[in-house]
Amino acid sequence: MKISDKIRYVGMNDRQTVLFEHQWPVPEGVSYNSYLVVDEKIALIDTAAAAFKDEFLSNIKEEIGDRKIDYLVVNHMEPDHSALQAVIRNEYPDCTIVTNAKAVPMIEGYQGLTDNIKVIKEGESLSLGGTTLQFYMIPMVHWPETMVTWCPEEKTAFSGDAFGCFRAVPEGCLVDGFVDFKEEMTRYYASIVGKYGQTVQAALRKVSPLGIERICPTHGPVWEKDIPEVVGWYDRLSAAKLERGVTIAYGSMYGNTAKAAQAIAQELENKGITVKLHDLCEENYSYALADVFLYDTLIVGSPTYNAGIFPPVQSFMEALKARGVKNRRFAAFGSYTWAGMSVKLLNALAAEMQFESVHEGLSFAQGYSSDKFNASEIVDLLI
Ligand SMILES: Cc1cc2nc3c(=O)[nH]c(=O)nc-3n(C[C@H](O)[C@H](O)[C@H](O)COP(=O)(O)O)c2cc1C
Ligand SMILES: [Fe+2]
Ligand SMILES: [Fe+2]
Repeated sequence: MKISDKIRYVGMNDRQTVLFEHQWPVPEGVSYNSYLVVDEKIALIDTAAAAFKDEFLSNIKEEIGDRKIDYLVVNHMEPDHSALQAVIRNEYPDCTIVTNAKAVPMIEGYQGLTDNIKVIKEGESLSLGGTTLQFYMIPMVHWPETMVTWCPEEKTAFSGDAFGCFRAVPEGCLVDGFVDFKEEMTRYYASIVGKYGQTVQAALRKVSPLGIERICPTHGPVWEKDIPEVVGWYDRLSAAKLERGVTIAYGSMYGNTAKAAQAIAQELENKGITVKLHDLCEENYSYALADVFLYDTLIVGSPTYNAGIFPPVQSFMEALKARGVKNRRFAAFGSYTWAGMSVKLLNALAAEMQFESVHEGLSFAQGYSSDKFNASEIVDLLI
C-alpha cells in the first residue's frame, strides 16, 4: 500500500486476537504496521507478529517484486514487531540489520541472529540514495532499545509504539479525524506505555523540533493531517494534564457495591460533573485505566472479601500503582457483612500513591439502601 512514492505500508490488521498480549481486549482489532522505504536501496522498518509470516512476505513482494531488501531497521524488539526478523533474513540473506547497541543482544536472544548487524548511534544517518534515514533513541518508550527512525526528505517519523493505538487500520492507513482513534490510543497508552510518562516527555522534546509531517507508528493509522492533535494528546497523557472529571471503578459480587456506585454516578451527573462508570467485573480494567489517565478524580468501590479488597478491584489498584499513577483526588466505598476492611485498605493504597483523600470513605453493612449510603456525602466534597 502506497503511503507516498517512497514509503509503502506492508503491515496487516489482526482481527482474530481477542486479548492483545493476552491481557488487553481488542474488540476492533489491532494492526502490526511495517513500512518499506524504497529508493536506490530498500529499507524495511520493523517486521510483524509471528502469525502473519505469509501475509507479510506477500505484502513486501507486492511492493518491490523481485528487488531485495538492503536494510532491516529495528526500532523495537517486542515480538509483535520483531517476530519475523529471521524470516526476513532467510528470504533476503544479504540484508543488513540496522539498530542500536541495546537491541543487539535481544535480536540474538529472540531471533538467533548475530551477523551482518550495523550498530548505529544517536543522530547517525543511513543513505538509501535520494532519501536518508536518521536514528533517535527514545529509551523506555516503552522498552530500553526503543528508537525513532526519521526520514528528513519525507518529513516522516517511524515512531515504533509511540503514537500507536488499538483498532485495525482502515484501507489506505490514513484517517480523516483523530477523534475515532482517540479512545483506543488512550487505552493503549494507559495499558502499555503508561508507566513511562517521563521518558515519553523526553522523547517528545527530542522529536518535536524535527518538523514532523507524517507519523508512521507500529499500531494504528498513519498520521498526516492530525499531527498537532496526536502529538498534543500524547503530551497530555504523558504529562498527566488532567481534566476535571470522575472515574468510578468498582467490583461487586451481589450488586450492593454496584448500586452504591450507580448512586454516586447519578449524583455526579445531577451536579453536571463528568463521570465515567466502570464495572471491573464486567470489563477489562484497561477501560477504567484509560479514564484514570484523563480525569483528576478517582472513586473506587469494593466489597470486603476475606478481610481484604475484592480481587478484581485489588488488581486494578495494583495496575495503577505499577504505572506510577499519582495525584488524583480519591474516595472509596463498599459493602461488607461482619467487619468492613475494603475501604480502609483502599485508602491505604491510595495514600501510598500520593492520592489526595477527599472523603474518609463510605462503607455500609449488608444490603444497599439510600438510607445507609448517602452518595452526596462524597459528591458534595468534589464540587
Ligand atoms: C468469599 C467471600 C468473602 C467475604 N469476606 C468478608 C469479610 O472478610 N468481611 C466481611 O465483612 N464480609 C465479607 N464478605 C461479605 C461481603 O463483603 C458482603 O456480602 C457484601 O455485601 C458483598 O457486597 P456486594 O453485594 O457488592 O458484592 C465476604 C463474602 C464472600 C463471598
Ligand atoms: Fe511495544
Ligand atoms: Fe507494539
